[in-house]
Amino acid sequence: MSAGWNAFVIGLVLIQVLGALWLLMSLTSNPQDEGEGDTTGHTWDGDLKEYNNPLPRWWLYLFWLTAIWMLVYLVIYPGLGNIAGSLGWSQTGQYEEEIAAADARYGDIFAAFNDMTVADMAAEPEAVRLGRNLYLNNCATCHGSDARGARGFPNLSDGIWQYGGDPAVIVQTITNGRIGVMPALGAALGEGGTDEVVAYVQSLSGAGSADPAVLAAGQQKYVQFCSACHGATGQGMAALGAPDLSDDSWLHGGSAEIIRDIIMNGRQNQMPAQRDLLSEERIRVLAAYVLSLNAE
Ligand code: HEC
Ligand code: HEC
Repeated sequence: MSAGWNAFVIGLVLIQVLGALWLLMSLTSNPQDEGEGDTTGHTWDGDLKEYNNPLPRWWLYLFWLTAIWMLVYLVIYPGLGNIAGSLGWSQTGQYEEEIAAADARYGDIFAAFNDMTVADMAAEPEAVRLGRNLYLNNCATCHGSDARGARGFPNLSDGIWQYGGDPAVIVQTITNGRIGVMPALGAALGEGGTDEVVAYVQSLSGAGSADPAVLAAGQQKYVQFCSACHGATGQGMAALGAPDLSDDSWLHGGSAEIIRDIIMNGRQNQMPAQRDLLSEERIRVLAAYVLSLNAE
């Protein structure tokens, strides 16, 4: 906050505090007879009058107490513009303290796994349980609480890997994130060409049109435009994150419309990097949990 805004905010707060105190004073210093009291002068239905009685004492004292607490609060906690308050408390400070306390508390638990490989941890129930908790807090929003994914979000439990299922690769995926880029090829293939490739791609997993002429034309275009990334037989390429097109398992969906749309318009998909959010130890435990889901 600039100095001007700071002064403005402090001014506003103080005016409010003083206003509240002034209101309380004026109420206390003008005690009226309890009992009869004045009326406000309003009369309804001939004889219904509204009395203007003072507030009960104990009620008024409560207001004084809150007003005094207001001043004490502004002295010890941050409340007046940029002034930090005598306790030095801050939201970020409290957050960092809590994180440090949690690290101290859980550090030992994670340290117990430091000498184990991720693959060993995947067979260790305690590590898997810990990983499951981390998973539910950090990953389930996208991959589902059962890790079976959703359209665009890969299933992590089916033994099918876009980027690879080696422990080190999973650790890398979680740490650095992934961006899968499927280029738009509609312009290069044209409408008819795209239809042929769609038919060929579907045939790789035993679906779609079986017209041999269409499939042959589609295969020719596949070899030219797709095989560099998805492999000669559609087996995919982990280094690029290009999915296997022959396993009838689909990240985005296997209908002709969806495949057509992906070829025409391309697709970009991202797994967010966790390195700034989770410690290395936690990522190892998470990788072990993901691995354990694919154990059979
Ligand atoms: C914001 C959504 C989101 C969150 C949160 C997220 N992921 Fe992902 N994840 C994705 C997407 C999308 C992909 C696919 C990326 C692609 O298509 O290139 C992916 C891919 C992956 C893969 C690669 C799967 C494969 O087949 O190779 C792994 C492993 C993974 N995520 C694990 C995790 C773990 C563990 C967490 C929790 C720390 C997590 N993800 C959190 C969206 C997310
Ligand atoms: C430059 C490499 C590259 C080329 C060339 C390429 N793709 Fe892809 N393709 C990818 C990547 C990477 C993805 C994964 C996108 C994601 O992460 O969502 C993908 C995804 C797909 C999908 C979605 C798969 C699923 O499981 O939902 C289909 C279908 C597909 N490509 C078909 C094709 C066809 C057909 C061609 C040729 C006309 C082609 N691709 C050319 C890299 C490529």
